[in-house]
Formats: sequence, structure tokens, C-alpha cells
Amino acid sequence: MRTYFIAGNWKMHKTASEAVALASELVKELKDGPHKYMIAPSFTALDAVSKVVKGTNILLGAQNMSTDESGAHTGEVSVLQLKDLGVQVVILGHSERRHTYKEDDAMINRKVKLALSHGLEVILCVGELLEEREAGKAEKVCEDQTRLGLAGVSAADLKKITIAYEPVWAIGTGKTATPEDADAIHAFIRKIIADMYGKAAADEIVIQYGGSMKAENAQALLAKENIDGGLIGGAALKADTFKPIALCK
Ligand code: 13P
Repeated sequence: MRTYFIAGNWKMHKTASEAVALASELVKELKDGPHKYMIAPSFTALDAVSKVVKGTNILLGAQNMSTDESGAHTGEVSVLQLKDLGVQVVILGHSERRHTYKEDDAMINRKVKLALSHGLEVILCVGELLEEREAGKAEKVCEDQTRLGLAGVSAADLKKITIAYEPVWAIGTGKTATPEDADAIHAFIRKIIADMYGKAAADEIVIQYGGSMKAENAQALLAKENIDGGLIGGAALKADTFKPIALCK
């Protein structure tokens, strides 16, 4: 059986007490789960959720972080503050950060390198807009975001990187990429990693799919050779909808 990396991105949902309630349920439900797990609550719930998942098989993730370690950056959260709360993984380059908050590849790359330098694992998100897909540019967009996001990352540090392919048109829309379409882009990203780091690194890297993944489609997506896990939004907000994905065989 393959081991998948199943991660929940809770986005801007849940108060601290609601987050604690869901995390507590997941700790119970997934304690014998066969896969690697992560949940990423909002910053405001990290401290409380950290206490719930400590010592369990669920990693604590953050949804973003600053490009800088400290300083005059009103409203930002630093890698040192995340580490202090027990955060182990950080999601960087999410499409909502790229498109709503105008984060560019250079900024995302600074964040990636800073997170790695402090020993955090990184989920680097890449993915094309609908108009880019329709213009035949999906591969090019994913290639650029992968190469620029990983610029200057050593082969040793690549082991701490997961790539999440999240086609923007499939996020929160109910439209999932077909398993075949997703697998084709995953295979393409693996080829880029092989070009940058060699075949062994490309075979090893975990590439998650994200975008309306749910119990009904998870099995078919995860059955594909190049899909090694999921980064789940909406379906991660309830134990009932996350658990069937997290326990997929
Ligand atoms: P949905 O699962 O709600 O489409 O969100 C996917 C996502 O953006 C996870 O980061």
C-alpha cells in the first residue's frame, strides 16, 4: 500500500474553540491512520490546536508566513513565532495568496528558503488559472512556479518540500480536474524536478493534488501514479468529510 500525505487547509474558518474541537476529533479518528497527516488552522488557532496534536500522528501546519524573520511588518507572522507554537509545516504560494494578495514567485521563494533554514517542512502550491489552461499554458505556469519557487533550494532541503498542484479553477468550485488531467500535470512537474535535481529526487518528491478533493473523488485521484496525496480545503472542515479521504487505501 502507498503512503499518502493528506493535509487539511482550514483557510479563514473556525474560531480557536471550533478548531480545537475538530482537531480533537481528528486525533481520535486518525490515530491508526496509515498516512502522513497535517492540519493547518488559522494563525489565531495555532496555539490551541498545537496542544491538541502534540505527540500525535498529525502535523501542525500554518497557511502562510512572512518573508522576514522579525521587524516592522504590521500584520505579518514570522517563522520564529510559528516555530515557537510548534508549527512543523508551512503552506506557501497558495493561489489565494498569489492572486488575491499579489504574492509573486520571488516573494514566495524568499519564504520557502526562510522556512527551510528554520527546519520547517514546506508545501509549495502551484497551479494555473482557467484562462491559462484554456490558452494551453497550464504546464508553462506550473513549470515557472516550480522553478522560481525552488530557486536556490539545495537537494538536501528538497526532502522537506511537498509540491501541491492546485488548479485555481478547481478550488472551492466543485470542479475537480479529472484524475487523468491531474496526473498529467503531476508527471510534468516530476519531470521538472528531475531536470532540476535528478531522477531519484523526482521519484521521491511528494506531489499533492488540491481542488475540490472529496470522499467521492479522492480514491480515483490517489490511484494515479503521480498523485501522492491531497491538500484539502472545504472537505477538511468536518471530520466526517475529511476522514474518508484520510483513510483512503
Ligand atoms: P477546496 O478543497 O475547498 O477546493 O480547496 C482546495 C485548496 O485550496 C486547499 O489548499
